[in-house]
Amino acid sequence: MDDELAESQRAHWQDTYSAHPGMYGEEPSAPAVHAAGVFRAAGARDVLELGAGHGRDALHFAREGFTVQALDFSSSGLQQLRDAARAQQVEQRVTTAVHDVRHPLPSADASVDAVFAHMLLCMALSTEEIHALVGEIHRVLRPGGVLVYTVRHTGDAHHGTGVAHGDDIFEHDGFAVHFFPRGLVDSLADGWTLDEVHAFEEGDLPRRLWRVTQTLPR
Ligand SMILES: C[S@@+](CC[C@H](N)C(=O)[O-])C[C@H]1O[C@@H](n2cnc3c(N)ncnc32)[C@H](O)[C@@H]1O
Repeated sequence: MDDELAESQRAHWQDTYSAHPGMYGEEPSAPAVHAAGVFRAAGARDVLELGAGHGRDALHFAREGFTVQALDFSSSGLQQLRDAARAQQVEQRVTTAVHDVRHPLPSADASVDAVFAHMLLCMALSTEEIHALVGEIHRVLRPGGVLVYTVRHTGDAHHGTGVAHGDDIFEHDGFAVHFFPRGLVDSLADGWTLDEVHAFEEGDLPRRLWRVTQTLPR
């Protein structure tokens, strides 16, 4: 992904969270509610969330008793997350870090039980960057670790419309989205067990997404 688009996206998310605090609401997303059950069944205690935004899902994991590290490249989203964590008295289980997922994850090898990423892999990332990120997730997860991610896909109404940036990336209202073809989901599961690809919808458009669960061998 060219640095200009990446930087303009970071600025756009930063401005959007500042202008619309708590824009996704206080309730957890349906994929986060599902993932908490999957993570618990797998015996996970800590969760790394990528693209956590203002934290509707990170806070759910913390309220459910998980220790959460929340990453995002928007400091304003993460500031709102920390304020909400204090208000909900779960701040002892939540840490945040400003991080661009185009760079290596700030976690040691095999140090994390579970990774969650709702609508992060389908941001303005090239196919190559997405593969590198899933390689990083593989590196930081412990054997038997679980990844639950969601992505908008090529069946979404916005796919093929708006400003085209190549590589299935299209921009609407300043937000660039990489719409996933099914083959990309399958290739990202290479070396993992692909447990589930679940189609669902979110929001008014509606956004059309897949929720993907994949597990590392023990
Ligand atoms: C569609 S929002 C979803 C936010 C959150 N997961 C939720 O559902 O409430 C995507 C999030 O990814 C973040 N993001 C986009 N590109 C990123 C990147 N390269 N590195 C880190 N975060 C990024 C944005 O700041 C935003 O918070």
